[in-house]
Amino acid sequence: MFHSARIKLTLWYLLIIMAISVLFSLTIYRFQVTESERILLRQRVGIERGGFLRPGFGPPELEPEILKEAQRRLMLNLILINLGVLIISGGAAYFLAGRTLKPIEKALENQKRFVADASHELRTPLTTMKTELEVNLRSKGLVEEAKKILESNLEEVDKLGYLSDKLLRLSCYEQKEGLSFTSISLKEALEEAVEKHTSLAKSKKIEIVKDLEEVGIQGDFAALVEAFGTMLDNAVKYSPKESKVNVDLQSKDGKAVVMIQDSGVGIKASELPHIFDRFYRADTSRTKEKVTGFGLGLSIARAAVEKHHGKIEVVSTPGKGSTFTVILPTA
Ligand SMILES: Nc1ncnc2c1ncn2[C@@H]1O[C@H](COP(=O)(O)OP(=O)(O)O)[C@@H](O)[C@H]1O
Ligand SMILES: [Mg+2]
Repeated sequence: MFHSARIKLTLWYLLIIMAISVLFSLTIYRFQVTESERILLRQRVGIERGGFLRPGFGPPELEPEILKEAQRRLMLNLILINLGVLIISGGAAYFLAGRTLKPIEKALENQKRFVADASHELRTPLTTMKTELEVNLRSKGLVEEAKKILESNLEEVDKLGYLSDKLLRLSCYEQKEGLSFTSISLKEALEEAVEKHTSLAKSKKIEIVKDLEEVGIQGDFAALVEAFGTMLDNAVKYSPKESKVNVDLQSKDGKAVVMIQDSGVGIKASELPHIFDRFYRADTSRTKEKVTGFGLGLSIARAAVEKHHGKIEVVSTPGKGSTFTVILPTA
């Protein structure tokens, strides 16, 4: 991300420097041309008035050819100078762009590390709380009221644990390390993701229809299973009961194309650009049941897919359904 920003900034710096340099050169050239034309004219007028008619008197006559030659040489020199400016300022601009972006890059890195550290540190106390709550819930002499409170606390602790896990994963994928690549089968990854969501689908009587080709890529199996799982989870969560979810995998022009299609509530066009943002959740009031989530799933999925040099595309019609397409390079 920072490399492309550096290139862009370099180009902007270069554009400004070159605009000034070219403008300056054009002014010099224009000035030289009008000046020499003026001299030529003055000389002609002088000759016509008979001032230098006698040979040996007055300055030697200026030949238009010589003037043209001088102009051509000036033009060539100016072009060479501009090329020099382009090369030197290109290097300088790249260096300066790097210097400009360095503090921003550092701040962002620190912020990511902070999120990673914070979510990591949260895990231990949350695990302790969870264990203690579970142990207390099992004790016999608990009054009904207290039991209800403890159960609700346990639920919240589970949610917090899930949240800190997701945040940790997101910051992990957004940093340079975080994934380990091997030769994997995308078909197997999709089958595992489907397997993990069959019970949720069954509870809503949703049928997951698979049509999977065998496609191998270099990638992180667990990360891809999670990314596909997020999309399947959404497809099931945001679909009505007794509907269908299609999962397709094809190999097309050296690329693996995964399609997860549902006929659920769909996403409004105004909300589509935001669904990959962290903590963004579209207005889900259209679904009858309460749908839980933090709005982090798709941002993690996108970070994982981008780490594989792939992309995710969405097409959605409110009320009709959504299709999420993941395109991954197979080479
Ligand atoms: N298949 C889908 N159908 C309808 N809406 C979807 C679908 N997938 C994602 N969305 C919308 O995108 C939002 C972000 O998705 P996600 O990051 O997985 O968060 P959440 O935890 O809410 O599921 C969801 O809240 C939902 O509004
Ligand atoms: Mg989700």
